[in-house]
Amino acid sequence: MDSADVAACWEANAETWTRHARAGYDLYRDAQNTPAFMANLPSVGGLEGLDIGCGEGANTRRIAQAGAGMTGIDIAPTFIRHAQEAEAAAPLGISYQVADGMDLPFADGSFDFATAFMSLMDMPRQDRVLAEAERVLRPGGFLQFSILHPCFATPFRRVLRDENKTVLGIEVREYFRATNGEIETWRFGAAPEHEKAKVEPFKVPRFHRTLSDWINLLVTTGFTIEHMHEPTVDAETAAREPYLADTRVAPLFLHMRVRKAG
Ligand SMILES: C[S@@+](CC[C@H](N)C(=O)[O-])C[C@H]1O[C@@H](n2cnc3c(N)ncnc32)[C@H](O)[C@@H]1O
Repeated sequence: MDSADVAACWEANAETWTRHARAGYDLYRDAQNTPAFMANLPSVGGLEGLDIGCGEGANTRRIAQAGAGMTGIDIAPTFIRHAQEAEAAAPLGISYQVADGMDLPFADGSFDFATAFMSLMDMPRQDRVLAEAERVLRPGGFLQFSILHPCFATPFRRVLRDENKTVLGIEVREYFRATNGEIETWRFGAAPEHEKAKVEPFKVPRFHRTLSDWINLLVTTGFTIEHMHEPTVDAETAAREPYLADTRVAPLFLHMRVRKAG
């Protein structure tokens, strides 16, 4: 699958994705992934940041609200249109544009930091997007990103629950099978059934790589690994949102902050 096919999948996902995410159905993002990401983000007040694969802009807005001047890019025009409409309705000074993370339309050293929330594993050439992120960072700048956890969100992953829906374990297979655009089909699990029934499922092309692939790519690009985090929910959150309880058994996401040489 080439970049144009990947872009077409995301464009097809964008309308429903935006509506459902804004309705609160992206529960992993809202209740776990973004709060953990923000808790580990260094102070960004007064810095210029780039959000790579910004989608409809919810996380870009969070970082702008933390005081950074933000630019958001995404491959899907519909996501960018929704992000721009949100900016027009409640301005935070964010500039959005359609662009490919693997070919960023910015000069070398344009940003103090970059973020990528759950987008890098969706790109066919992770070596290119990492090289591009490194190129547009100023010396000493950082990239903080979240991805599906390479070890526990492999091409085959199944959450095992008992009859009471208590999570017993995670079945993980095919860790070593790199995928190159294999389509995963799903809806936000927290969406009500009547909403799920109304829409086509998302079609998400995946580019699974092992943990050592990721680490080696980062090191080869010239980044220094500064921080890693594997978010989980506390017992109280799991009791309130049993849907998230699998992340108490094994993490679904991996967060990393890496830094360009100063
Ligand atoms: C899982 S969504 C995450 C969206 C957003 N960052 C969030 O956290 O809500 C992945 C995003 O990456 C974008 N994307 C995929 N490939 C891309 C590419 N080559 N360049 C830029 N964005 C891309 C998709 O359009 C989509 O918005």
